[in-house]
Amino acid sequence: MHRIELLLTFLMFMFTSTSETCTLRFNITAVRGEPFYLKYCSLAPEPKNETAVVRWYKSSGSHGRIELNSSSFPRISLYDRVLEFWPVELEDSGSYFFHMGNNTREWKLNVIGKSKHRCFAEKLLISKPVEVQKSLRVKCINTHYEKLANRTSLYKNCQEIENNKNAVLQKNAEFEDQGYYTCVYFIPHNGKLFHVTKTYNITVVGDRSKITPVLLGPKLNYVKVELGKDVKLNCSALANEKDAFYWNVWEENGKEPNVHEENVTRIRTPDGKLYASRILRIENINEKNLNFSYNCSVASEGGTDIISFVLLKKEGMVDIPGYVFTRGMIIAVLISVVVVCLVIMGVIYRVDLALFYRHFMGKDETLTAVVDEIHSLIEKSRRLIIVLSKSYMSNEVRYELESGLHEALVERKIKVILIEFTPVRDFVFFPQSLQLLKSHRVLKWNADKPPSYNSRFWKNLLYLMPAKTVKPYGAESEVLPVLSGS
Ligand SMILES: *[C@@H]1O[C@H](CO)[C@@H](O)[C@H](O)[C@H]1NC(C)=O
Ligand SMILES: *[C@@H]1O[C@H](CO)[C@@H](O)[C@H](O)[C@H]1NC(C)=O
Ligand SMILES: *[C@@H]1O[C@H](CO)[C@@H](O)[C@H](O)[C@H]1NC(C)=O
Ligand SMILES: *[C@@H]1O[C@H](CO)[C@@H](O)[C@H](O)[C@H]1NC(C)=O
Ligand SMILES: *[C@@H]1O[C@H](CO)[C@@H](O)[C@H](O)[C@H]1NC(C)=O
Repeated sequence: MHRIELLLTFLMFMFTSTSETCTLRFNITAVRGEPFYLKYCSLAPEPKNETAVVRWYKSSGSHGRIELNSSSFPRISLYDRVLEFWPVELEDSGSYFFHMGNNTREWKLNVIGKSKHRCFAEKLLISKPVEVQKSLRVKCINTHYEKLANRTSLYKNCQEIENNKNAVLQKNAEFEDQGYYTCVYFIPHNGKLFHVTKTYNITVVGDRSKITPVLLGPKLNYVKVELGKDVKLNCSALANEKDAFYWNVWEENGKEPNVHEENVTRIRTPDGKLYASRILRIENINEKNLNFSYNCSVASEGGTDIISFVLLKKEGMVDIPGYVFTRGMIIAVLISVVVVCLVIMGVIYRVDLALFYRHFMGKDETLTAVVDEIHSLIEKSRRLIIVLSKSYMSNEVRYELESGLHEALVERKIKVILIEFTPVRDFVFFPQSLQLLKSHRVLKWNADKPPSYNSRFWKNLLYLMPAKTVKPYGAESEVLPVLSGS
């Protein structure tokens, strides 16, 4: 194995050294303004004692064949079996001949200019197709000029690639790597600085729809959590259909039982991009889940991407002890119940409350506008029933009494009925006019022995009242309340 490798390396070296240093092709193209050389190498073994003289000739068009020497051609230098141009120019195009004893060799040289606005000649490009995601390697090798150059640089699309000291590009090919890569050797010669270039036309081939997957969001995410709660970690990727997309949730001692990886959901946008997202659900968070890196990965042949999520305990929030919380809740519930009860009581006992309020405030709505009402009521009445009782003899009653008596006696509109509750002699105030009443208009109420429904008292009272058709039984209640209701 080792031997084969060595042998291969040796063969490669032989091949490159001959192909790079010796000019084997017949038709040669050179770039104007750059150093150029022709070198003869004999393929057949030469006699050891060969001491033949080397001669170089050029023939171009009508000029015929002329011998080349450094003295008459200042840009040309001859040594050993090499013809060098410093630099080669357009007029150098033509046929070149090498003579050494019986050995002769001919080349046809075509000198061309560089493309407009470009650092290379399009006809001299070396095509190099590379498959996407496969190894792309651009290395500047020129065995002839390498040793003469004091600097070598690699250019992409005629712009020097920065931070590329060794003039080597080595990476996995991406579509954006496509372009023209030019190796430039800087060669000082006779006090001048020359450039020798070699340009590769690198094309990246492959399925353009395939992308290098990337995870969205920061590479490291801290998530504040509370112990005992659940959390969902959402990992989203811009990926290909078949890419592996997963959470690394396995610990050395196996998977944590409260950590669950949900299924992948994929959404394709109208412009053809595929977004995938996958949730990691952590239930009932415990101390073991904290400060641990939960990593989400996406992988394809094109590459891998990883982002990490770390759970941190929420700080700055003091935990309320359980018993304080329970007490607080109980108090709140009790207060609500009391408020609701008070409202209900208020509705039920609103009458009592209103009366209590009136009593407390000493409110008396009867004291106003009262006189007018009494007057209008008396005017509408046809009988004035005076109940003489000691306990009910206020100012208003007295006014009622007096204005009623005025109507009865002066205007003669209403008749007076007097019901004696208390003997007349017990009164401090007693209108004299009442003593003028006819005796049958005075009814006596015996407080010790209240008269029965059928008694003479009620019949007399009915008699003194204005006549009215007595309605059949059942309507009686409409008449009775006049007396019983008071
Ligand atoms: C070179 O070798 C050949 C034979 O191999 C001989 O004929 C010839 O004379 C030699 N030349 C010189 C210069 O020695
Ligand atoms: C290369 O040589 C040229 C000419 O002698 C000189 O000006 C230049 O500074 C040299 N560059 C380096 C990197 O040595
Ligand atoms: C470079 O190579 C690509 C693919 O082979 C080709 O289409 C393109 O024309 C080449 N560029 C030049 C300047 O020849
Ligand atoms: C996860 O994040 C992606 C992108 O932000 C969103 O489209 C998706 O609805 C999220 N999933 C859930 C379950 O929140
Ligand atoms: C997650 O990634 C971090 C950083 O890349 C690494 O230190 C950690 O071990 C990874 N955790 C797991 C579970 O793979």
